[in-house]
Amino acid sequence: MSSAVPLDALRDTHAPRVEPLDVERVRQDFPILQRKIRGKPLVYLDNAASSQRPRVVIEAIRKLYEQDYANIHRGVHTLSQVATEAYENSRDKVRQFIGAADRREIVFTRGTTESINLVANSFARPRLQPGDEILITAMEHHANIVPWQLVCEQTGARLRVAPISDEGILRMEEFARLLTPRTRLVAAVHVSNALGTINPIRRMIELAHAAGIPILIDGAQAAPHLRVNVQQLDCDFYAFSGHKMCGPTGIGVLYGKLAHLEAMPPWQGGGDMINVVTFEKTTYNDPPQRFEAGTPNIEGGIALAPAIDYLLGLGMDRIAAWENELLAYATQCAADIPGLRIIGTAPCKASVLSFVLDCAHPHDIGTILDQEGVAIRTGHHCAQPVMQRFNVPATARASFSFYNTREEVDALFRGLRKVLEVFG
Ligand code: ALA
Repeated sequence: MSSAVPLDALRDTHAPRVEPLDVERVRQDFPILQRKIRGKPLVYLDNAASSQRPRVVIEAIRKLYEQDYANIHRGVHTLSQVATEAYENSRDKVRQFIGAADRREIVFTRGTTESINLVANSFARPRLQPGDEILITAMEHHANIVPWQLVCEQTGARLRVAPISDEGILRMEEFARLLTPRTRLVAAVHVSNALGTINPIRRMIELAHAAGIPILIDGAQAAPHLRVNVQQLDCDFYAFSGHKMCGPTGIGVLYGKLAHLEAMPPWQGGGDMINVVTFEKTTYNDPPQRFEAGTPNIEGGIALAPAIDYLLGLGMDRIAAWENELLAYATQCAADIPGLRIIGTAPCKASVLSFVLDCAHPHDIGTILDQEGVAIRTGHHCAQPVMQRFNVPATARASFSFYNTREEVDALFRGLRKVLEVFG
């Protein structure tokens, strides 16, 4: 794809003018941001790995444990009913957050990884024959590679990979060419965790559907930063995680079109996913419970609702606008660092700055930055094929959230100048 594609078309959302966030005020909502690391103020720039939690989320978990906790879907007693209602309200909140039509389309999982494994095992595997193909992109996280490799090994299907350019942009003509009569499913990332690229998923979904192929979107890095509407997108599946969007760890979501979910067999057996169990035969519950075997992450599910309320209260457009500003500022600062090369230079990016320095390994960069209180991620970011594509063993990655400031970007680059003093 050429960079002449209008940015709004890539972003899949229009970017209206919005009132800026009061970042200093927002930061007061995050107790951990007051912390010091090695005597220096914490500068938390590892948000793509996991975001921090606002007080409303912490308080929701504390209140649950102190006042309302019981197992859900199982008791007539008051606490069970209170907890069940809170958990199911959270499902409604998720439905609203992503614009799904029906609460039965919202399956709670452990996270994006489990959501994708669910689709691989329950949707894809029964449909795959030897010679069939699954199409992914060259910028996928391992969570959107390995589950497909596993089902390919089990069924004789083949994994195809749409290539990316040196900027980290999906080659759309290649993507379109790889949609063949043998393709049974497309699985593509919305926002790359290693590069920051925002994929033109609306167009990808149109192309897949024009060829009669269902498509799953890995939205782990998109849901915290962009306005997502699954009905407008018309994707078949959309997966994301609570812990990257100010919610608890160990809770995630699989959105699936109801017709798909209703046609899918369970993938894990246990309590809650059944109607009637006898030794001769078991009948299964309807979606979403059919896919939620066993006692779930009750506190995670319940505290996802205040996280969503918090994000919606700030406004996804305001979040995106501030994060874009931080990324633009950081990209500009990066140009002044000798020997720094940004990995991922697509024109349409979310707030990820992945880079290498000529003089220092990413782990050394991360270690020196930590001395300055600056937390970034270093390594392959669970995207080894991306590292191979760019011929680097690893990158250093600063990933920004709406609670980060320009001063924190300055701290990152002060730290990088220290790295240059040591290694340069
Ligand atoms: N997938 C997470 C990351 O990009 C853990 O860091």
